[in-house]
Amino acid sequence: MKRIVIVGATSGIGEGLARLYAEQEEVRVGLMGRRRECLERLAAFRPSVFETEVCDVTDTELLERKLECLSGRLGGLDLLILSSGTGDLNPALDYAVERSALLTNVVGWTCAVDWAVRFFERQGHGHLVVITSAGGLRGSGAAPAYNATKAFQMNYVEGIRQRLAGRRLPVRVTDIRPGFVDTAMAKGDGLFWVASVEKACRQMMRAIERRRSVVYVTRRWRAVAWVYRHLPDGLYMKMAKV
Ligand SMILES: NC(=O)c1ccc[n+]([C@@H]2O[C@H](COP(=O)([O-])OP(=O)(O)OC[C@H]3O[C@@H](n4cnc5c(N)ncnc54)[C@H](OP(=O)(O)O)[C@@H]3O)[C@@H](O)[C@H]2O)c1
Repeated sequence: MKRIVIVGATSGIGEGLARLYAEQEEVRVGLMGRRRECLERLAAFRPSVFETEVCDVTDTELLERKLECLSGRLGGLDLLILSSGTGDLNPALDYAVERSALLTNVVGWTCAVDWAVRFFERQGHGHLVVITSAGGLRGSGAAPAYNATKAFQMNYVEGIRQRLAGRRLPVRVTDIRPGFVDTAMAKGDGLFWVASVEKACRQMMRAIERRRSVVYVTRRWRAVAWVYRHLPDGLYMKMAKV
C-alpha cells in the first residue's frame, strides 16, 4: 500500500494529481488545503482512498499537527507532494500581496518540507515532491514576491538534496518546475504553451515514478527555461510588463 499526502489538493495541480493517484491500485491519499468543501467533494469521489484535513499552511504549529494526524490516519507516509502556493500580479507593489506569498510559499512551505524530511529520515525512506516554477529562475517585475519565493524553494530543496546525499539516506526529493498550467494560478497576459491540468499532472506522475531530481513540465519548458535563464540582463529588463 502506497501512502501519499498532497498539500494544496483543493484545486488545480494538487487536485489533478489526487485524481490520478486515486485511479491506482493499493493507494491511500491524504488531502490538505483550506477549502473544506473542495476537499469533501474530492474525497466523495473515492471515499475508500481519500482522507482529508483542513489546514492553512501559514499556521505552522497547526500544520505540523495536521501532517502528523493525516499520515497517522493513512497508516504511514511514502510520498509527500507539496503543491500549495499563492502569488499575484502586484503592479502597486502592495506589501500585503507580497506578504501573503512569503507566508505561504516560504514560511508554511518550509515548515512542511522540514517536517517531511525529518519524518522520512527517521523512517529511513520516503519521497518529497515540491511544485516550484520555471518562473523562479528569474526575477519578475510583475509579481516580484512570487518569483522570488519560487527561487527560494528551488534553492532550499537543492540544499535538502545535498543534506540527504551527505547522510546517504534513500530519501528522494523531486523539484517539479511547471511552465504554464491551466489553473487559477496562471495569471497575466502573454501566457503561452498553457498545458491542461491533466497533461501536466500525467507528466508529473511519470517524473515522480522515475524519482527524477529536477523536471520541467511540460517537457518543452526545459528549453524555454534554459533560454529564460540565459537571456542577457539588458534584454530581460526591456521585457518588463509592469
Ligand atoms: N498554474 C501554473 O501555471 C503554475 C506554474 C508554475 C508553478 N505553479 C505552482 O503549482 C502549484 C499549484 O498551483 P495551481 O496552479 O494548481 O493553482 P491553484 O489551483 O490556485 O492551487 C493552489 C493550491 O494551493 C492551496 N493553498 C494556497 N494557499 C494555501 C494556504 N495558505 N494553506 C494551504 N493551502 C493553500 C490552495 O488551496 P486552498 O485555497 O483551498 O487553501 C490550492 O489547493 C503552486 O505552488 C504554484 O505556484 C503553477
